[in-house]
Amino acid sequence: MPVSLERDGEVALIVIDHPPVNALSREVRTALVTTLDEALQDASVRAIVLASAGPSFCAGADIREFEASPRPPHLTDIIQRLEDSTKPVVAALQGSVLGGGCELAAGCHYRVAASDVRIGMPEVNLGILPGAGGTQRLPRLIGFDAALGLMLEGKPRRIGDASVQGFADRVVDGDLRAAARGLAAELVEAGSIPRRTGSLPPPEWTPEIFERHSKEARKRRGEPAPEKIVAAVRRAIDMPFADAVAYARADFLALRDTVEATALRYAFFAERQAPKPGPEVPLGTPRPLAGAAVIGAGTMGQGIAIAMLDAGLAVTLVETAEAALARAEERIAAHYEESVAKGRIAATALPSIISRLRTGSTLDVVRDADVVIEAVFEDIAVKREVFAQLDAIAKPGALLATNTSYLDVAEIACFTRRPHDVIGLHFFSPANVMRLLEIVRTDASSPDALATGVALARKLRKVGIVCKGRDGFVGNRMLVQRTRECLFMLEEGASPRDIDAAFTDFGFAMGPLAVSDLAGLDIGWRNSNLRRQLRELGRDCDLLDRVVDMGRLGQKTRAGWYRYDEGSRKPVPDPVVEALLIEHSRARGIERRAVPATEIIERCLFGMVNEAARIVEEGVVSRPSDVDAVWLTGYGFPRHRGGPLFYADRVGLAQVLERIEAFRERFGNAYWSPAPLLERLVVEGRGLTSDTK
Ligand code: CAA
Repeated sequence: MPVSLERDGEVALIVIDHPPVNALSREVRTALVTTLDEALQDASVRAIVLASAGPSFCAGADIREFEASPRPPHLTDIIQRLEDSTKPVVAALQGSVLGGGCELAAGCHYRVAASDVRIGMPEVNLGILPGAGGTQRLPRLIGFDAALGLMLEGKPRRIGDASVQGFADRVVDGDLRAAARGLAAELVEAGSIPRRTGSLPPPEWTPEIFERHSKEARKRRGEPAPEKIVAAVRRAIDMPFADAVAYARADFLALRDTVEATALRYAFFAERQAPKPGPEVPLGTPRPLAGAAVIGAGTMGQGIAIAMLDAGLAVTLVETAEAALARAEERIAAHYEESVAKGRIAATALPSIISRLRTGSTLDVVRDADVVIEAVFEDIAVKREVFAQLDAIAKPGALLATNTSYLDVAEIACFTRRPHDVIGLHFFSPANVMRLLEIVRTDASSPDALATGVALARKLRKVGIVCKGRDGFVGNRMLVQRTRECLFMLEEGASPRDIDAAFTDFGFAMGPLAVSDLAGLDIGWRNSNLRRQLRELGRDCDLLDRVVDMGRLGQKTRAGWYRYDEGSRKPVPDPVVEALLIEHSRARGIERRAVPATEIIERCLFGMVNEAARIVEEGVVSRPSDVDAVWLTGYGFPRHRGGPLFYADRVGLAQVLERIEAFRERFGNAYWSPAPLLERLVVEGRGLTSDTK
């Protein structure tokens, strides 16, 4: 039984036990109703404790059920029944208390929480709103401002956080159930009548609170849920409780069926499935992961070291240039000082973090490392030297990883006599922030080495996606298609702003050219694949080279595709670039024209989709949704669009193919020949992601 009932004197203990996260599936809801009725009808029971087995109280609704029509008993009704109970109900909260789980707790009369509890309303991340009374009960417990913050950010907060004060009546460190039982017994003893959250008056409010949150909600363009959340919470002011709950439930049901919510659910499962490669990639036993070494103390090396330190690992950072090493140490220290200043970590935690960082200027210091990650200059000769040395120095069984973006990992592995221990670990900059980690396997990589890479990704709390291949693996291989089309459209008549606006209107936080300016144009320029590809295509588009030659490297030189005012990150269109584009087009006899936003999106995204279909067909990833997980976690693809392949399916693969064929007519066969998988799926009337969940 997923829910059990025990009696302890006058107190009934109802326990939800539904691994892994006590999601409120229909089975759980049905059993909750049965046990609750039993406790309510039993005259010997005078108070109820609602608790859970496992690490978490409850992660909310069972998201998998959202694909089908809702089936009773509905959570809204169960919570109401709980709240209407004439016997006091005390929730015993531990671990994660999320979404419907948080609404369930809010419907109890009292809450006792373990001090590690994290409460959150992540519905917005799934494109819905709290539909089981949370929009009305949460504000009554923690105030409008805090409740709106929780619901709109969708991020859990620690129970000790000032913003969620009022949610728990007691926070305890010891035996949680005993504490909850103790409170229940006190209530019985005192003859207390239940304190119903729904009967509490709405908290104080000012119009400013709602205006501020509405403004934030409107910023999430293309997502209907945030504004609905603000409107639903506001009803607490001027609508009877039961009516406001009913309206919220109706909104929840309508939102649940939107394309955006479907995409967000798909994204949720795509990210969780991605680290589990299919049967074609056997994973062995992960090796120990206590000590790590990072070779190369540039921006990437520093970011990887910070990610490792954040995960509790001991890290040795190696850099042969002493000045660069000293600079890296300073930057890492400054990063942590800033984290303390911003309240992200406690000042008391700092010494222990910094004490785990060691540095060295020769490779000898990696001798004891369990995992060594090379993040040196992207040049095969440099990699050869590093890996040949590593082979001689690293301890047997150490995982040897390269952070290369485009080079062939199999070739790098052969610079050692232990290619089975070599994999790619492709981090994305800033490596301590970006959630994606491409775990690149070669034919020689051993199952244990791969399992260690997967375990490391999990330890770093990243989405680790096992892939193979060359030429940029998954993400960068597709990115090349987008960059190529951007350059071609710039010479055909689009301005940087036209291209970026099409992308931000689509839902990206930044357009591709503004992103290039942020990353540094010299980074893209060094990408030999793109330059080689353009040459091979016979289209002599040297725009990027010319911009770089002008010393315009992006934000760091305050000029790139845009110009930047002193101290500002805001891209401003620059007449110098406009003049360059006009002159470039004239020199090539190209008559500039306005490029419509639809064409910008189609050429960029469908080019990527076409390449992704090849990636899938070649078995670079285990399933199409892995491609979407890469773009969601590493490239800022708008989550409510699900990822490039999910998006292509929504457009309709037949239409995508038709556009690709039209582009082939216009631009030739060199890079617009449709991927065979795409053609096949269209013939079969199937989608790219329809077989995956
Ligand atoms: N429904 C269904 N499955 C869920 C789930 C949920 N709410 N939450 C987690 N799972 C599944 C995951 O898919 C995963 O399954 P697999 O092992 O098969 O891949 C498994 O539970 C473990 O999840 P994680 O890998 O994420 O485990 P974790 O320990 O890293 O994190 C967690 C645990 C913090 C609870 C995290 O899973 C999480 O944030 N879950 C989502 C919570 C959420 O969004 N809740 C709101 C649901 S909507 C709602 O409640 C509104 C309503 O209608 C009442």
